[in-house]
Amino acid sequence: MAKKKTILDLVQMKENGEQAVWMVLYDACFASYAEEAGMDMILVGDSMGMIVYGWEGTVPVTMDMSIAHCQGVRRGAPNTYLIGDMPFGAYHASCEDAVRNAVRFMKEGGVDAIKLEGGVAVADKIEAISKAGIVVFGHIGLTPQSSAAMGGFKVQGKNTATAKAIIEDAIAVYKAGARVLLLEGVPEETASFIHKILPIPVYGIGAGADCDGQVLLAADALGMYKNFTPKFAKKYCDIASLATQGMRDYIAEVKGGAFPAPEHKYKFTGDKEEFAAFLAEYEKELDL
Ligand code: KIV
Repeated sequence: MAKKKTILDLVQMKENGEQAVWMVLYDACFASYAEEAGMDMILVGDSMGMIVYGWEGTVPVTMDMSIAHCQGVRRGAPNTYLIGDMPFGAYHASCEDAVRNAVRFMKEGGVDAIKLEGGVAVADKIEAISKAGIVVFGHIGLTPQSSAAMGGFKVQGKNTATAKAIIEDAIAVYKAGARVLLLEGVPEETASFIHKILPIPVYGIGAGADCDGQVLLAADALGMYKNFTPKFAKKYCDIASLATQGMRDYIAEVKGGAFPAPEHKYKFTGDKEEFAAFLAEYEKELDL
């Protein structure tokens, strides 16, 4: 069993030029697969709002939901670096709110770090959480919690003016004390510059290859979410098809009498004659 990583290992991996790989997932079962596969990190993302709860976006996700999912993931992957995702509204109103909720993730969720979305606009919150001794992962570019303000889930930084704003966000997040930066949905040219100028690990999801590592949602990479697959995601297997076929087979076998078969049944180990006599007598007394 590999030793659980720390933030220092992530920095070391960057220095060694070793790519870090993380996956977004939400439950103990998948967390155990990730740990067995050797995943460097797991993010319990607020994308659970769409994948697990069926909402159109991430905004309705609450702290209590996120923490419950972190607890499950931690039980499934006790030795994997775990990041909790601060949901919309958990850090926007004040630095006090931000610190209180980040502390909840650490104490109740068992995470190693928290992630929050936003750049210049949330730099004060990043600073406050970092000063409380908590590792902050910044997340800029396409930030799903602000999709209403962005007019949808849209790639960011595609021209000089918008790329400049993202670079400024990256610098603000770094200067505020974030130990890691995640870039989502930005062109490789923009990501590459940020990766070049920042001394902290810079990871990407839909940000090209010039980063210190990659993140994908298990729902996309393992083919579980059927509503939408982003352009940047690669499907490594097709769980949706396997699961649907498995369910079809189950329905057909139950309806056709093939399941349960003898190997799925428990054996009665008592005296069968005595039991039959007992049941016959018992049945006579029943008044149903
Ligand atoms: O919630 C999530 O899945 C995320 C990823 C897009 C990184 O924040």
